[in-house]
Amino acid sequence: MLGLVNTGGYKLLEVILRSMQKEDVKQIMEIESVSFGSHHWTEHSFISEMNNPLGSYFTAIDKKKQKVIGYCGFWLICDEAHITTIAVHPDYRQNKIGELLLQKMINTGYSKMAKWFTLEVRASNIAAQGLYTKYDFKSLGTRKKYYQDNDEDALIMWTENIWDSKFKNKFSELEEKLKNNNLFCLVTGY
Ligand SMILES: CC(C)(COP(=O)(O)OP(=O)(O)OC[C@H]1O[C@@H](n2cnc3c(N)ncnc32)[C@H](O)[C@@H]1OP(=O)(O)O)[C@@H](O)C(=O)NCCC(=O)NCCS
Repeated sequence: MLGLVNTGGYKLLEVILRSMQKEDVKQIMEIESVSFGSHHWTEHSFISEMNNPLGSYFTAIDKKKQKVIGYCGFWLICDEAHITTIAVHPDYRQNKIGELLLQKMINTGYSKMAKWFTLEVRASNIAAQGLYTKYDFKSLGTRKKYYQDNDEDALIMWTENIWDSKFKNKFSELEEKLKNNNLFCLVTGY
């Protein structure tokens, strides 16, 4: 785990969060292969997703090192936002970067008038399920043997309507907490 806060109390990690760009893909592929093994996307998948009018893709960058540390994306089909990918570099995990990416997708969903978020996650992926559960995704079904590499089942997780006050209030609370985190600070643009 990174030591992100120095002894003086200020944050060492400055994170840029922006739309995914072609120049990110080489570094994304390194995270992708360690995160998803043989089930990973190709460079071509990312490039074509960036050109998909239904898609919204984002990259988080360690500003000091100019290094890609995470990425995510979703498709918006009618009012349903389907998360297609999210991953954080192993050295940066459990430092709330996953939450930062998920919040970015949900906020983008609000701006595009999405009503629900959904995704598939491996039944064994406790870390990802923990992240989604924290944001009130619920497992509402299973796709049997969805992952062909090991015949693992996928859980299908859904939010409630993200415009419902219960979801909005919880999301606002989590946004506020993340803003006040002592792990990293968000800086905008280059
Ligand atoms: C899932 C993933 C994106 C989480 O990113 P992260 O930056 O490590 O997660 P965060 O630090 O933002 O954690 C947010 C919440 O997720 C949950 N979580 C994260 N890591 C966890 C772990 N190892 N075990 C259990 N829960 C975990 C916790 O609820 C955590 O909240 P808390 O800190 O209040 O306990 C990361 O583990 C990853 O890249 N995994 C490989 C790729 C992957 O599986 N993607 C999901 C595909 S569906």
